[in-house]
Amino acid sequence: VGAAASLSVLTSRGASEAANLLPALVRSDRPLPPRFVVPLPRPAQRTGSSVSLVQRIAEQEIIPGTRTRITGYNGTFPGPTIRAHRGQPVTVRVRNELDIGTVTHLHGGRMPPEQDGYPTDLLLPASGRTPKAIESGLAMPGRTTLAERDYAYPMDQRAATLWYHDHAMDFTGPNVYAGLAGACIISDDEERAHPLPEADRDLELVLADRSFDADAQFAYPALAPDQAYPGVHPLYLAGVLGDTILVNGAPWPVHEVSAGRYRLRWINASNARAYRLELEPGGELTQIGSDGGLLERPVRRRVITIAPGERIDTTLDFSAYPDGSRVTIRNTFGFGSTDAVMQFHVVRRIKDETHIPDRLSTVPALRREDAVRTRDFFLALELGAGHHHGAAPRPTGFLPHRWTINGLTVDTERDWATPQFGDVEIWRFTGVAAHPVHMHLVAFQVLSRNGGPIRPGDIGWKDTVDLGPLETLEVITRFDGFRGRYVMHCHNLEHEDMAMMANFTVV
Ligand code: C2O
Ligand code: CU
Repeated sequence: VGAAASLSVLTSRGASEAANLLPALVRSDRPLPPRFVVPLPRPAQRTGSSVSLVQRIAEQEIIPGTRTRITGYNGTFPGPTIRAHRGQPVTVRVRNELDIGTVTHLHGGRMPPEQDGYPTDLLLPASGRTPKAIESGLAMPGRTTLAERDYAYPMDQRAATLWYHDHAMDFTGPNVYAGLAGACIISDDEERAHPLPEADRDLELVLADRSFDADAQFAYPALAPDQAYPGVHPLYLAGVLGDTILVNGAPWPVHEVSAGRYRLRWINASNARAYRLELEPGGELTQIGSDGGLLERPVRRRVITIAPGERIDTTLDFSAYPDGSRVTIRNTFGFGSTDAVMQFHVVRRIKDETHIPDRLSTVPALRREDAVRTRDFFLALELGAGHHHGAAPRPTGFLPHRWTINGLTVDTERDWATPQFGDVEIWRFTGVAAHPVHMHLVAFQVLSRNGGPIRPGDIGWKDTVDLGPLETLEVITRFDGFRGRYVMHCHNLEHEDMAMMANFTVV
């Protein structure tokens, strides 16, 4: 009902308003970098029980021969990859040397609410300066910390590909775009027992699209800071798309590989872009895991879609290609410059001892009968709305829209749902536009799409699911782990910043 009502409002406003349903492309103000020339960077790897991350501004060579100012964990984009093992807790000490308030969230992690990176639990700058957003009343501080704080992660969960990124209320889009994102990989004994590719044949691939201004700086379409609202430009409230595809911070990189099996962990860290990955000249990726770790069995897939926030764990055996081959990862959702992602260059033969077992893990199915209730969530666009969650009023006539869940915009004081600890529930999402829906704390299973079967990419344990326009999907989860307040939100970061977020409290 909510989605249908929104749609009729939209159509009555005409086509120019309806255009706000679609993410918009920002064009670079300079020639695009060459494809398949820049080598794929490997993020620094961090292991052990304590990891220190300093958020700072740095310059990085992204486009060959130029320097781009980034905001990075340890001054790199992406930040270091945190490697953890199940049952061995990790404390991440984050220090804020920026002039904005930040929040670090480990996406896909299960941790107590105080460690989860609630969007108003800001880490304030070490300089002691009050961030502009707080001064102007745009950011609502919750439990703030000055300069430095620890995030204590139990890492008591299945082996999986996670990622961490900024989550500051209203500013996640610009902050992540500026570079505040990195991978986190958890292993466990079950996974280690499999002869899967390891070390330099186990690659995290952080996907992000960006555009560049004439000076090779990131071109996030924000209003100038001296204008009333320093957030995203109103034309881009439905999502910011870049024209340059970066993998691990390099444009359309190339990676030299041996003719053996590789593990490729795709992480979609893009603000609003979904990808459809296909191989050229043909072939299949073997999907072995999704957001929440290994599948029961490997699945061969010619086409893999990945929405913002999702992770797909795959293997690719390059021994199937002749020496010297170039295997390109295409993006068949993309047009023009965005129709390719990266390339692998097969340069040497090796003896490959790896193997993908037929049975990878057990994923016990949650059954409909186990659910004690079904909750409905309508994700819609509300036109002509002003500010949200009690922040200072935003300029009228300038930021006309906000994204809603059940007709409401984000509000730190309201719960959209209060599941009981241990209960199994079905959450049914219906969307007016494309919304990658993400739940904190829990992993869920997708039960149905539009009343019918799920799609290939919906299998396994998920924490983010690609809800298409005018689709309804049901997910099922058990609210165990921790009690307290968490959020569920759209992972299109511009939708998220424009209020498409809901609290739930496990009671
Ligand atoms: Cu990847 Cu609530 O975030
Ligand atoms: Cu959305």
